[in-house]
Amino acid sequence: MKKVYIETYGCQMNEYDTELIRSILKATHQYEFTNKESEADVVFLNTCAIRENAHAKIYGRLGEIKHLREKNKNVIVGLLGCMSQNLRGNLQRSENMIDIFAGPDSYKRLPSMIDSVLNNGKKKYDFNLSEFEDYSDVYPERVPGVNAWIAVMRGCDNFCTFCVVPYTRGRERSRNPESVVRETEKLVSDGFKQVTLLGQNVNSFRHNGVDFADLMQQVADVDGIYRVRFTSPHPKDFPEKFLKVMAENPKICNHIHLPLQSGNSRILEMMARTYTQKEFLDLVDKIRETIPDIALTTDIIVGFASESDADFEDTCQVMKEVEFDSAFIFKYSERKNTIAYKKHPDDVSAEKKTERIVRLNELQKSISFKKNKAIIGKRFEVLVEGPSKKNSAEWMGRIEANKTVIFANGAFSAGDLIEVELYNATANTLFGEHRPNLILADNSTSVLSEVC
Ligand code: SAH
Ligand code: SF4
Ligand code: F3S
Repeated sequence: MKKVYIETYGCQMNEYDTELIRSILKATHQYEFTNKESEADVVFLNTCAIRENAHAKIYGRLGEIKHLREKNKNVIVGLLGCMSQNLRGNLQRSENMIDIFAGPDSYKRLPSMIDSVLNNGKKKYDFNLSEFEDYSDVYPERVPGVNAWIAVMRGCDNFCTFCVVPYTRGRERSRNPESVVRETEKLVSDGFKQVTLLGQNVNSFRHNGVDFADLMQQVADVDGIYRVRFTSPHPKDFPEKFLKVMAENPKICNHIHLPLQSGNSRILEMMARTYTQKEFLDLVDKIRETIPDIALTTDIIVGFASESDADFEDTCQVMKEVEFDSAFIFKYSERKNTIAYKKHPDDVSAEKKTERIVRLNELQKSISFKKNKAIIGKRFEVLVEGPSKKNSAEWMGRIEANKTVIFANGAFSAGDLIEVELYNATANTLFGEHRPNLILADNSTSVLSEVC
């Protein structure tokens, strides 16, 4: 048995892909997995390309792995995922020690690529993007836990002008919903309580007339699943039906990650996001009318090409108006070969980007703090995840809004749904007390639906 070490960077889709890779390798009965890179025969980095700092991190790691390789010439090093796909030929030329290069649609061929390196020592690369590969015949080898990711679609056809994903992950394709439901059923029998449906525009899911609302309903109908989440939807695909299914189905968590990117309509048009500031705000109103207690989170890019101080103020204004529960805020990072790279020079200075990200982070922090403080004293259903990372005498779980709650250990285990009363909050974390006589569910969904 050869030992494989895999390190994963980037988004949940990459985490999911690593689980696919583990499953594909395991099926050959030739590999086992290790957490120690020093004892590995094969070292894989599953990489991200979304911003330049994602590339920089990998270059740093490759420098370290070079030392490992100097000690043991037989270690096979593979660069997988979005950065590998993005840089293709360039990397093959510059990074001599990498034996295998593979993009996100090439993972079924990894075992034969490893064999080939072992047999003839030649580098192998595979950057074929497929219109059909959806890995629905592979059951990912997951780390046991409470939540499981399921990629229900792959690729992206949106071509937001700043974004590299359509080039690294290829055309959008949706999985057969039956395979998603089967996977969910299997997850339940493996002990998972929550599924998060993944896609680059997950709400654009469509397969033979089944849309995303239908899919969510079908997944929520699986017995034994307590909670269904999804990420990330695109603001362009929010039919009434989708919101109605969310509002009516107690298992679908009341949380939407709704990427805004910018609050200025001119910038949004340059980004090809397909909505204006007003359309985004109208959508937020429609969502809140249909699901009043919805939690909204977002992604923002500051310093996109030509963003003036006044344009940036529009983003601040929208943040103040919407009051997202939390936000991921990024400095614009120009990606080679994207539409923005070709058409819109990256002309906002590094200092301005820093100034803007600091300001928005502060603004969001004060909003998050205010919103979290406002719910102190209330009781929430919490899905218990396990011991808190900071203090093993305490536990952590999440409320439906996906906010983390810390509470004292008690007579329950990971995967239980319990009730917690909040007594304190920061901008990022809630603190609560378990109400001991109110364990809502251990393994039964019937109790859950009464509660919700
Ligand atoms: N498909 C998802 C986004 C995936 S990337 C969606 O549309 O929501 C996650 C986030 O990274 C994006 O929402 C965007 O805010 C940010 N991002 C993408 N490209 C970027 C770039 N070139 N520079 C800075 N941030 C970027
Ligand atoms: Fe990138 Fe836009 Fe596709 Fe999201 S929707 S992955 S931001 S191109
Ligand atoms: Fe994800 Fe990074 Fe690729 S965010 S889709 S791993 S570029």
